[in-house]
Amino acid sequence: MDYGCAPEIIEALHAGVDGVRFGYLPSVLVAEMSQECAGWLAESYGWKVAASDVRPVGDVIAGFEIAVEHFSTPGSAVVVPTPAYKHFLDVPLRSGRKVVEVPMVLVEDRWEFDLDGLDEAFSAGAGLLVLCSPYNPLGRVFTRAELLAVSEVVESHGVRVFADEIHCPLVLPGAATHIPYATVSTSSSQHTITGLSASKAWNLAGLKCAQMVLTNQADRETWAGLGLAAEIGTSNLGLIANTAAFRSGGTWLREVLGYLDGNRSRLGDLLADRLPEVLYRPPEGTYLAWLDVTSLGLGDRPGSFFAEHAGVVFTEGADCGDAGRGCLRLNLATPRPILDEIVNRMASALARR
Ligand SMILES: Cc1ncc(COP(=O)(O)O)c(C=O)c1O
Repeated sequence: MDYGCAPEIIEALHAGVDGVRFGYLPSVLVAEMSQECAGWLAESYGWKVAASDVRPVGDVIAGFEIAVEHFSTPGSAVVVPTPAYKHFLDVPLRSGRKVVEVPMVLVEDRWEFDLDGLDEAFSAGAGLLVLCSPYNPLGRVFTRAELLAVSEVVESHGVRVFADEIHCPLVLPGAATHIPYATVSTSSSQHTITGLSASKAWNLAGLKCAQMVLTNQADRETWAGLGLAAEIGTSNLGLIANTAAFRSGGTWLREVLGYLDGNRSRLGDLLADRLPEVLYRPPEGTYLAWLDVTSLGLGDRPGSFFAEHAGVVFTEGADCGDAGRGCLRLNLATPRPILDEIVNRMASALARR
């Protein structure tokens, strides 16, 4: 994200430095973060969790790794809807797990979960679903009915969900609100472990702090059993910044969301004008745009063409799973003149081909 940082967060970080808050994971900083995060979840989504159930981790992917290793049946495969955030595909492999890709399906111009595909994967023995909500990279903000339908499939197989809700503050104007997956039914709260962080929305990723939200007694006990190992990767300044974001980052975030709203429409206008062959559905949430450029004839990895000939670097869709071949993921969280430059450079590179 190219928008700097909320002044309230910068101020809190300065105070943290001036106060030399540099010791090992101070419990008072953890408690403040958990309290503010729980308060923010209640206020934003009506999700009431005990502060003690909001646990710190170094980042969401560290939380995902823990979910794979300690919260799913040992050795079971991990189901990843695709196209997916790249690390959903490689983390399970590092833990010796198989990954089952279940491509999202387009239903009346809207990307949805393939419930039959999920059912099949669980029937074949997979033990954990990664549910990215809002969805990187397709930009979906799921409805309660969609989440409930997933939870019914999951429940019927007695498997687990890692709900990655890191993008939840980034719901763009006009979309329905984010619904935490663990809140859609009693069973979803029992089979889910949720990861989130202020890091995406408030531009804090390098400060290393995320949250795991525990919503059942067995998970509390498992987490407690992991001891400090699960939490020690969290940084103090990350805790301070996350606390400040949840406590007082709302005004800054609303401005960012308004600007991103303008960017997602601007991108649509630019593409319609300069590259009408590119298929783009404006995201409902996240600051990511998914571009289907298969009709340009650039093969499975079109990003390499644009990196070489336009000086524009995208995430290759193919790195997001097989379903992403021929597509590109673009980060929209940039000043509008840069967005213009991106599309102009793409169009010029194609014209020179
Ligand atoms: C869905 C999703 N999960 C996790 C991450 C990474 O988060 P972290 O740096 O906290 O591991 C990202 C980063 O873009 C993401 O989009």
